[in-house]
Amino acid sequence: MNPDTSIFFKKKIVLGITASIAAFKAVSICSRLTSSGANVVPVMTPGALNFINPITFSSISGNRTIVEQFQNQRRIYHISISRSADIFLIAPASANTISKISHGIGDNFLTTSVISAKCPVLIAPAMNESMYLDPVINKNITRMKESGKFFFVGPGSGKLACGEEGIGRLENEETIIEKLGELLNYSNDLKGKRIIITAGGTREFIDTVRYISNRSSGKMGYALAEEAYFRGAREVILISTVKNLPPPYGVKVEYVENTEEMKESLFKYSNDVDIIIMAAAISDIVPVKKYDFKLKKKDDILSKIEFKENDDILKLLGEKKKEGQYIVGFAAESGYNTMSIIEKIREKNADMIVANDISREGIGMESDFNEVDIIKQDGSCRKLEKNKKRIIARGIWDEIIKSLNKL
Ligand code: CTP
Repeated sequence: MNPDTSIFFKKKIVLGITASIAAFKAVSICSRLTSSGANVVPVMTPGALNFINPITFSSISGNRTIVEQFQNQRRIYHISISRSADIFLIAPASANTISKISHGIGDNFLTTSVISAKCPVLIAPAMNESMYLDPVINKNITRMKESGKFFFVGPGSGKLACGEEGIGRLENEETIIEKLGELLNYSNDLKGKRIIITAGGTREFIDTVRYISNRSSGKMGYALAEEAYFRGAREVILISTVKNLPPPYGVKVEYVENTEEMKESLFKYSNDVDIIIMAAAISDIVPVKKYDFKLKKKDDILSKIEFKENDDILKLLGEKKKEGQYIVGFAAESGYNTMSIIEKIREKNADMIVANDISREGIGMESDFNEVDIIKQDGSCRKLEKNKKRIIARGIWDEIIKSLNKL
């Protein structure tokens, strides 16, 4: 069955072609996309010129095929191409180009524009089986998948150009085009949405040097923000206590330190946003008083420090939730059962809670990995197996979007 190609109408697609015997197959892909109404910009690596003439792609797409990195005399071309593109497709992608991109090497027009792209990049590898199964190439591909920006289709198995049988053939055209369409949908599925995400552990100061906090690194909140921007959100505001992580591209970051500041920031926006995700680990207790000097040991510190229970911000947000707003909480627990989480969801008037077991090594707080249960108000539960936080963030957004589509 032919995939539906209406999604490509008026979309700008950068088609990368690298040095592979399968380069001729990109001609038909280019032609299919162009006839579906896409604006296809062909970009060839210098090595690809050994396999096919750039005029072929220029004639089919109606756009000049770009090969030379330093030929353009106008705007910074690789940046303007990557910013204006809706999606990148590299088909066929050689082991060399894949490895260069995975290491951030931009030594030609294709690699520099892929590195600066902020849209999804679909890669269709084509190489000999011995290259594809090489541990280094495999590691490069895994790292690229985990980054969240790169998606792979194929390779397929069968007769290879060298006469051997095995895995490494460029995936068939239908499958590549179908996957490209799926990705275009995916990169638009938060279109128009305004989102706030909180990240990191609050620091509740006792005096000018001492504070109470927790081990939260903020990485989960950052990954959620990155993924939201990637999926086309209109505005993503990240309220963060963390200063040692690079701000995600396209996301507005507001730095706060304690619960009071976080509350203030949140309530400034909460009436005007569609989705709120409370990924921050907010202290459950706060000092009754903050001293504006350093308490001395000889002043009997313990007698001067008193704690009280903190406001539950998630609950406050739940109380004033506006029509159609979707609120997500997190629960970092040392062991839990679904029923206790469902109770928490109802008590706080949230729509979803993402629970993770902090007693397990190698996931959750401070780690780059997580493994979570996504529990919704209707009692449904989906487990996301251990993965990089960016991939977990993708699964969480998939579930939020599913719920929003049902509203
Ligand atoms: N939260 C909040 N305000 C607090 C404490 C937590 O808004 N003072 C939010 C967190 O951002 C998280 C959710 O509530 O999204 C759950 O936090 P958690 O600490 O796991 O649960 P609590 O409800 O505080 O209960 P407990 O720690 O006793 O299980």
